[in-house]
Amino acid sequence: MARSDRPQHLFSSLSSETLAVVAGRPERTPDSPLNVPITPASTYVAGGSLEYGRYGNPTWEAFEEVMGALEGGRAVMYASGLAAAAATLSLAPEGGAVVVPRHAYNGTVGLMQDAARRGRLEVREVDVTRPNALVDAAEGAAMVWIESPTNPALEVVDIAETAAAARTRGALVVVDNTFATPLVQQPLALGADVVVHSATKLLAGHSDALAGVAVVADDPTYELLEAYRRLHGATPGALEAYLATRGLRTLAVRFERAQDNARRLAEHLEGHEDVAVVRYPGFGTVLTFEPKGGATAAHRVTTASELVVCATSLGGVETSWERRRRWAGEPVTVPDALIRVSVGIEGFADLWADVAQALTRG
Ligand SMILES: Cc1ncc(COP(=O)(O)O)c(C=O)c1O
Repeated sequence: MARSDRPQHLFSSLSSETLAVVAGRPERTPDSPLNVPITPASTYVAGGSLEYGRYGNPTWEAFEEVMGALEGGRAVMYASGLAAAAATLSLAPEGGAVVVPRHAYNGTVGLMQDAARRGRLEVREVDVTRPNALVDAAEGAAMVWIESPTNPALEVVDIAETAAAARTRGALVVVDNTFATPLVQQPLALGADVVVHSATKLLAGHSDALAGVAVVADDPTYELLEAYRRLHGATPGALEAYLATRGLRTLAVRFERAQDNARRLAEHLEGHEDVAVVRYPGFGTVLTFEPKGGATAAHRVTTASELVVCATSLGGVETSWERRRRWAGEPVTVPDALIRVSVGIEGFADLWADVAQALTRG
């Protein structure tokens, strides 16, 4: 069981960097392993608290304990980020309105649009570059879904201000914290009700596992989210839970290094003659740019790299990029030539040499 032997009051005084390392460890008894092992179990001997593989798993619990400590709440792990989003969306009542940035991750918006088509929810997509857009649309809404920075437009909203105003209007406040991670912002402390992550990205960090998590501050919501996982079978694999927990151990150093590379890459791109626009919110590991020459040039650049991988997804140790509009589900308000770059931890000189040669060849 992932039950830390260190008292919880100790956790409250520790930094996020330390919590990522020490939370979710087995008890310190002689010869116990330092890591909670992978438990591949579909069922358990009757009479305990777990009983069946869809109800619980010690390897999930280790990940949940670390994420709960990092986000300051109770965590429920899911099979993917979108499974965590679906579980969280189920908290909105039948027929309720959900407010969402139009440039939130297209899978999340697609999930909401699907619920709207089925008559289950109303979706209000807003342009968060307009001041107060989320709050104005929150009137009478059941849920305000914040994604900050948005994927891929990298728009940032003031979570504390938006959460306070949305809650006054009676809406449940959700924050997708995938891009920022709890190292940058802890939405529950800023007034959000639920934090969701695609743990597939920076948390697991090595492009080898799909996972998601929702973290909440209150027990009744925790019970609903845990019941959703059980009832819908949105369960993660034990191997994925292990990989995600292992990834969390190095989150702080990976993030610091990748963020440093991202800042430098944004600066270098700004000064490049073949680049028209660069967007970087000033923190995080993702940036976007548009080469001069439009979508055709963007396609050529992203396929001309040798070090940088042309692939979707983000948050791995390797730098990857893609032209986002190659996806049919991406809104047309995302520029056709926009290249989203997920910056990794390579040596910067090597990274820039490859990006520069790809720009020249593109
Ligand atoms: C911001 C954000 N949220 C949620 C998701 C969905 O996560 P997953 O792919 O793990 O289902 C993604 C995936 O790209 C994402 O970028």
